[in-house]
Amino acid sequence: GMDQVERVAALRARVALWRAASERVALVPTMGNLHQGHLTLVREARARAERVVVSIFVNPLQFGPSEDLNAYPRTLAEDMRQLEAEGCDLVFTPTPEVVYPRGQEGQTRVEVPGISDILCGASRPGHFVGVATVVCKLLNMVQPDVALFGEKDFQQLMVIRRMVEDLDMPVQIVGVPIVREADGLAMSSRNGYLKPEERERAPALYRLLCQAADALRAGQAVDAVEEAARERLAEAGLRPDYVSVRSAVDLRVPCPQDDRLVILAAAYLGRARLIDNLQLRRP
Ligand code: PAJ
Repeated sequence: GMDQVERVAALRARVALWRAASERVALVPTMGNLHQGHLTLVREARARAERVVVSIFVNPLQFGPSEDLNAYPRTLAEDMRQLEAEGCDLVFTPTPEVVYPRGQEGQTRVEVPGISDILCGASRPGHFVGVATVVCKLLNMVQPDVALFGEKDFQQLMVIRRMVEDLDMPVQIVGVPIVREADGLAMSSRNGYLKPEERERAPALYRLLCQAADALRAGQAVDAVEEAARERLAEAGLRPDYVSVRSAVDLRVPCPQDDRLVILAAAYLGRARLIDNLQLRRP
């Protein structure tokens, strides 16, 4: 059966037993309110390791002062049911006091320069320091062989890959493709903030990314494609934060010879800030 622990010592005791039996351990970090996107990570984790640990922790350090930390959906009982059904071995549900015993202010931080300050990082100052810090801690607590992250949060995945490389952390980072609703909307815990009428408009974000990808493949200039997508987002009733075509390798503004591209977008709709992205190869 599946176990749940709240403390690091208990977590380490379980993992040590598996290690002693030479079992591979996978970690899936989450903030809970699990949907098929998260559960796909768990399935991929099971395929890659004998043991799967899922962490559920709404990390206060990655929320800005005016963001949705208190409103963020917390559905632990339902999350536990879903994880049990997926064959998860251990759920780690630390409290903020377990993760930040000295408080957030006294906490050592992990800063990944450059890629943390653009795109979502520009609109959410300090967000990726909070993400890198908590993921670094979770990786040190569990010491998994492999950790899985969704491409839904493309920039987050890049920040974590860079951190692991820069800090020589002995873990394999695996990215998992975006899981979408039938109408194309990328699954997200924040979709629950949408009123029915907003939910109907939300798939415009993915539609625009698909149109932008077509335009890029047809040879249209990056600036024109970005501008057209922003206009169409606004027409669809979303308030664009950014639409940006970048190198899928390092998130830099692409040179003409870059062929692996990603179009990233963020937009506000009602109480929600939606993000999505689409990778493409330029001919
Ligand atoms: P959370 O938003 O709960 O997401 C947990 C993981 O699920 C992330 O790796 C995210 O990219 C992935 N995910 C979410 N929606 C997805 C979808 N539709 N398709 C594929 N993967 C999806 O991301 C976080 O939590 C936090 O920042 C965390 C990494 C846990 C650090 O606090």
